[in-house]
Amino acid sequence: MTEFNFPKDFLWGTATSSYQIEGAWQADGKGESIWDRFSHTKGKIQDGTNGDNACDHYNRCPQDIELMQKLGINAYRFSLSWPRILPQGRGQINQAGLDFYSRLVDGLLAAGIKPNLTLYHWDLPQVLQDQGGWPQRDIVDAFLEYTEVVARALGDRVKMWSTFNEPFVSAFLGYWWGEHAPGITDRNQAFAVAHHHLLAHGKAVPIIRANSPGADVGIVLNLGPQMAATDSEADRDAARRADGLVNRWFLDSLAGRGYPADLVAEGGVELPFMQDGDMQTIAEPIDFLGINYYTRRLFHSSDNDEMAEQKVAGAEYTEMGWEVYPQGLYATLARVHFAYDFPALYVTENGAAFADIVDVNGRIHDARRAAYLQNHFVAAQDAINAGVPLKGYYVWSFMDNFEWAYGFSKRFGLVYIDYKTQKRTLKDSALWYQGFIIDNK
Ligand code: FCB
Repeated sequence: MTEFNFPKDFLWGTATSSYQIEGAWQADGKGESIWDRFSHTKGKIQDGTNGDNACDHYNRCPQDIELMQKLGINAYRFSLSWPRILPQGRGQINQAGLDFYSRLVDGLLAAGIKPNLTLYHWDLPQVLQDQGGWPQRDIVDAFLEYTEVVARALGDRVKMWSTFNEPFVSAFLGYWWGEHAPGITDRNQAFAVAHHHLLAHGKAVPIIRANSPGADVGIVLNLGPQMAATDSEADRDAARRADGLVNRWFLDSLAGRGYPADLVAEGGVELPFMQDGDMQTIAEPIDFLGINYYTRRLFHSSDNDEMAEQKVAGAEYTEMGWEVYPQGLYATLARVHFAYDFPALYVTENGAAFADIVDVNGRIHDARRAAYLQNHFVAAQDAINAGVPLKGYYVWSFMDNFEWAYGFSKRFGLVYIDYKTQKRTLKDSALWYQGFIIDNK
């Protein structure tokens, strides 16, 4: 039995992102983002919804901070909407947008909650996409301009910064598989996007440091075991390639080892966008790596689809169809630490979508979510015991929100949102987390 013994200064957090919660998509001078455009395009979002209003967090921010305080968290991870701050992507600053985030930061600090800011959680200004977007190298300069504006405005108070959230998802779901904005299906563009995300990351790190003395600066990756369904050579090979794409493409390059040679050699990946010095820039030292962990994936090769995923008989799956596999969190944390040795690690997202049960008194019962979290905290504790420098944990998500291509049909929140009335209710899992934090702080 694992006994909990988290470090005294551990960060107990929750996470959200701008497009998923803010709403107010046109308020106070905000520009259009690629997610506004994408979600307004018929057929892109499974339940036909969009994030125009979402959780109306833009207008309910003080109330949401009060709820966070009630929950007892001491850290909150959120992202900024680039077009809220620079409606044209560059140039003219929209002061009202910047002021919103400034009030959020002040509110958090007043509530004793450490702000953890992510610059890019996928909502690119649409005008920049119209000019070519992330596949074009010059977008890096636009990102650096945005970084500097934000770091100057908030760098005195925000001391934890991530440049990008999940470059894998942003690049490959957005530009290769087309399930996310901007809905492009072009493998070569996707690799260029991933490269420009990483390049923009590496160049942004010193800008943040210069404007936010003493800050910890990092990046957030989605990681997890990509495993073979059987011991056959073909299955193991499929898993190796998936691991290369999901995990090693980003970990290796950030750690200064370049892109994985096996994928570059056999995957037919063209890298015409690479320039001298890029890989050094990408490997700019960071203070921490953020890990978003949800599940593992199992691969078996078949004649039709060499990367087909395999389901496990008898395993528990969430509403996303993701296997509940807490051991994978331990394995991921241990691997990242022992193979890459970044100075500190955080679980920047972990959580589950389950169908909540609302009872006649309006209470929300979600025992499976609480169990999911409890079991993943065990895995985190095991990793700490094994010597992993894990410094904090952010549950995804603080509240139910717009789950990208799935719309509002998947609920990940500790807080239940009634989207008709915007009423917030702490679910049973929130009450569990509240108690868990008190017991372990
Ligand atoms: C991650 C995203 C986050 C959320 C969760 C469920 O990939 O970073 O915004 O959608 O998945």
